[in-house]
Amino acid sequence: MSPDVFHVFAPAKINLFLHITGKRADGYHTLESLMVFAADIGDRLTFAPAELFSLQVGGSFAVELSASPADDNLVARAAQMLAAQYGQPLRGAITLQKNLPVASGIGGGSSDAAAALKGLVRLWRLPEEPSVLQALALRLGADVPACLHARAVAAEGIGDMLTPVETPALHLVLVNPGVATPTAAVFRQLESVHPPGGMKPIYTLEDIQACRNDLTSAAVSVTPEIGDVLAALAATPACRMQRLSGSGATCFGVYATAEAAAEAAQQLKARHATWWVAATSVK
Ligand code: C5P
Repeated sequence: MSPDVFHVFAPAKINLFLHITGKRADGYHTLESLMVFAADIGDRLTFAPAELFSLQVGGSFAVELSASPADDNLVARAAQMLAAQYGQPLRGAITLQKNLPVASGIGGGSSDAAAALKGLVRLWRLPEEPSVLQALALRLGADVPACLHARAVAAEGIGDMLTPVETPALHLVLVNPGVATPTAAVFRQLESVHPPGGMKPIYTLEDIQACRNDLTSAAVSVTPEIGDVLAALAATPACRMQRLSGSGATCFGVYATAEAAAEAAQQLKARHATWWVAATSVK
């Protein structure tokens, strides 16, 4: 590989909890969420210098994703917005290896957009200006600023007010039933919100267990298979808790050890051949 070619990892995002606290006049919902990032499960972007701009999509979920910005590809949109911000010609060859299911509540598109911003700042030798990147990230989507951080954060506002937090190291199994679940459709089904409770600087597993994902019933009404996934996770040996991430349909189970998570993942794969199942850890 030429020294000018490099990779940026776009980890899966997991909402350990997601409390919806209100609705703004512009239709966006305010929230309180603990967001963490998978150590080793995610998409991968490769950047190479090129006179013209290109985006190629490969990987297990490539067929479900168009590379066109007109079709809302967040990597292409991130590139266009960053180029416009800095008056930079749009150039470079990006390859997106799409390993995460699309429209699945684990931030695949948002994490790809954040990785695109980081990679293109390096490829185009732009100045490191975190506040400029954060503002661009928010225009790309409510979860993109957190994905720029890519480490445990307490998210408030619409997901744009971020504070680093301490979380326990957790072993997780992520499970998606293979049904794309658009975020906007889930928010449209949401019937009530809860007043904000405030975020803490340190979370234990017990704290997390006591929280909720307020989008669960709305997401189940859009994608009923989520109910089957939660029940299957709950039935795995040594599962300490199970919950929906984001607007779904991906759910996660929490296990005490990496071995217990691997065993649960194997069992789920054996029983549900069409589901996407991945064991990982977060810190
Ligand atoms: O920002 P993002 O593109 O991920 O959001 C998709 C849709 O989900 C928004 O258009 C909005 O309808 C809904 N949403 C919301 N409140 C949020 C995030 C998303 O209502 N905090």
